[in-house]
Amino acid sequence: MYKILANTLFLGKNVVFVPECHSTNTLLMELAQKTQQPEGMVVITRAQTKGRGQRGNGWEAEPGQNITFSILLKPQFLNANAQFNLTIAVSLALIDFLKSRLADRSFIKWPNDLLVNGKKITGILIENTLAGENIQQSVVGIGLNVNQRQFTAPAATSMFLETGHEYDLSIELSSLIECVERRYLQLRSGHANDLRQEYLNNLYWINEEQQFVSNGRRFTGTIEGVDAVGKLAVRDQGQINYFGIKEISFVR
Ligand code: BTN
Repeated sequence: MYKILANTLFLGKNVVFVPECHSTNTLLMELAQKTQQPEGMVVITRAQTKGRGQRGNGWEAEPGQNITFSILLKPQFLNANAQFNLTIAVSLALIDFLKSRLADRSFIKWPNDLLVNGKKITGILIENTLAGENIQQSVVGIGLNVNQRQFTAPAATSMFLETGHEYDLSIELSSLIECVERRYLQLRSGHANDLRQEYLNNLYWINEEQQFVSNGRRFTGTIEGVDAVGKLAVRDQGQINYFGIKEISFVR
């Protein structure tokens, strides 16, 4: 059972723990659909049987070794076309957390993968429900690899693999929740531009010449930023092109 001892105003005050579920995002969405749930509510599990990732991928995590949870937010102050600002805020919360644990080796791989030493340690899946032009609710799902020692994916890592230390999951969860609330409150109080700048400062491959693939074409390009709706701006032979999440991949 998880205790959330986070020093927060509203995030993590209501917690649903289930030993096992398909996906904490799915479960939280179902709960929020049935009855009104408070902002900041957290659903956490020891084991997901159908963890979901971005682009329709799955999310694998060994039961009991990692943190897999979802948070209910109600960023009704955000216009639908500014929803990427929430991605920015949550990504920065993860960067704050990782930097506090693993020193300065963490980057955000656009749009919201967290890398440590070039390997993925955290995934974020944000699912927004819109009401007219605004966001009505967001389910923010976070998977953080903590004590797992082996991964099938070669480019994955965990806090244990990076430091050789075992971590107490409830302590790490509390700290992570504090980081998310701090960045969310920063967004809510109108600091989207500062957040955006910090996001760019922590972006993997920014301003570096690197290899990408788009539409079957491999090219050398330079990430120059992210536009208002979250498309990646990449300079390719003097011209800047903007890519959505399914339109470009990074070649390592
Ligand atoms: C990704 O990088 O593809 C996103 C992975 C997100 C995984 C988390 S684990 C908790 C929450 N529940 C899910 O089914 N997915 C997210």
